[in-house]
Amino acid sequence: MIPEALDLSSVPNHVACVMDGNGRWAQARGLERTEGHAAGEEALFDAIEGAQAIGVKWLTVFAFSTENWKRPPEEVKFLMNFNESLLERRSHELNDMGIRIRFAGRRNWRVPKRVLRRMDEAVELTKNNREMTLTIAFNYGGRAEIIDAVKQMLEDGVAIDRITERKLERYLYEPTMPDVDLLIRTSGEHRLSNFLLWQMAYSELLFTDTLWPDFRRKHLYEAVLEYQARDRRFGGLNR
Ligand code: IPE
Ligand code: IPE
Ligand code: MG
Repeated sequence: MIPEALDLSSVPNHVACVMDGNGRWAQARGLERTEGHAAGEEALFDAIEGAQAIGVKWLTVFAFSTENWKRPPEEVKFLMNFNESLLERRSHELNDMGIRIRFAGRRNWRVPKRVLRRMDEAVELTKNNREMTLTIAFNYGGRAEIIDAVKQMLEDGVAIDRITERKLERYLYEPTMPDVDLLIRTSGEHRLSNFLLWQMAYSELLFTDTLWPDFRRKHLYEAVLEYQARDRRFGGLNR
């Protein structure tokens, strides 16, 4: 299943996914948009297993953005409940797989308390796992994250000459999260939609037309193959 050409010694350390296209997937089948979100669960778990199989250490998925509150209230409600039920149903399975669950996003703004409780339980349950860290970006916005970091730095009285990139990173939602190596966005949209702005400064970007509910580990492997063919220079010269 893992393509022979895939070099297991240079797998991206941190893969991030914008899980997009659920609504269109459902609409194409005459289903409610929310059924597309539900169908995305299988894609997510296949991607998690695939990432683990090739040795990805950090996988971050965009589940709900700070902008997604603009959607109809029923869809927002569905997404809140769906996240809660997914954690309730599947945290133990992720724990058995050795996966550490983390969340990135605004905690103290709009997310129902019971959802926050479920998130905390999943984090607590899996906190000692070291196989892979699955970060769920939930109520997440890249600009909100940077603003929240700056506010906290000011509140802590960080002196101007102490403000460095490293320092600011310590104030992000997940201070130990490394930069993203590979970003995958499904559904043919070519934009970041406010995802991990700081952490993606030098990421390789990969866009696929596959709609998220159709995404499987083979698509992840194809993305990693493409990533391995790229020449990452970080502003310098490789030759
Ligand atoms: C992504 O799928 C999931 C979330 C944003 C929560 P969409 O719901 O954006 O699906 P499309 O883009 O409308 O097809
Ligand atoms: C980005 O997708 C957010 C998530 C996948 C959770 P959107 O569907 O919300 O992004 P836009 O609106 O097309 O930019
Ligand atoms: Mg979308």
